[in-house]
Amino acid sequence: MKKKISASILSADFVRLAEEIHKAEEAGVDWIHVDVMDGVFVPNITIGVPVVKAIRKVTNLPLDVHLMIDRPERYLEAFVDAGADWLGIQVEATIHLDRQLNRIRELGAKATATLNPSTSLDTLEYVLDVSDMVLLMTVNPGFGGQEFIPAMLPKIRRLRQMIDDRGLNTLLQVDGGVKLDTADALVKAGVDVFVSGSGIFNANDIFENVRRLREIIDKDQ
Ligand code: DX5
Ligand code: ZN
Repeated sequence: MKKKISASILSADFVRLAEEIHKAEEAGVDWIHVDVMDGVFVPNITIGVPVVKAIRKVTNLPLDVHLMIDRPERYLEAFVDAGADWLGIQVEATIHLDRQLNRIRELGAKATATLNPSTSLDTLEYVLDVSDMVLLMTVNPGFGGQEFIPAMLPKIRRLRQMIDDRGLNTLLQVDGGVKLDTADALVKAGVDVFVSGSGIFNANDIFENVRRLREIIDKDQ
């Protein structure tokens, strides 16, 4: 599979969100990553269902919605109805993880199991086969522009091995500190989907940022 770039709009200019999304789209990103934070599971509050609905109207790219909210089961249907193609829940935020991953699939979206940096891969042991994607957080969730945590590299390699050993199609996604200087190591560790926020939207030229990131992640293909 061609490796994918999922542009995190957390670092975009919210006042000109449609324009920023269109630029990212023209620059060739594959998905739009939407960070939903509730001020409880993470210390920050961002955007919710109405904004996802609005974004759905301005792009045809798949919407990759990352819920950083407590008890996400309360909102799965609302986010799928709003247009989420991929819906991610943090494994730490729900008690019945298997049920919620299956529920996302029943609702017609792809299910992403998301792990904080300190959360063990053991949490995936019995749910990997019902996860369309696993998102390994490579920063502590809550804010854009943080430093990549190097201890995540062996974790990524181990998950790659688990997925391959089981012959699954589960995608391996990373989020946090993904930039030109970290991308190469992530490619080598076996990442399929690269979420990048400040690396795309913060530095001045979105086109150039995406082009350079793409060059690195496509190098070995
Ligand atoms: C952080 C969010 C990320 C964030 C990444 O909690 O989940 O998606 O936007 O930002 P960068 O790429 O700037 O680390
Ligand atoms: Zn995210």
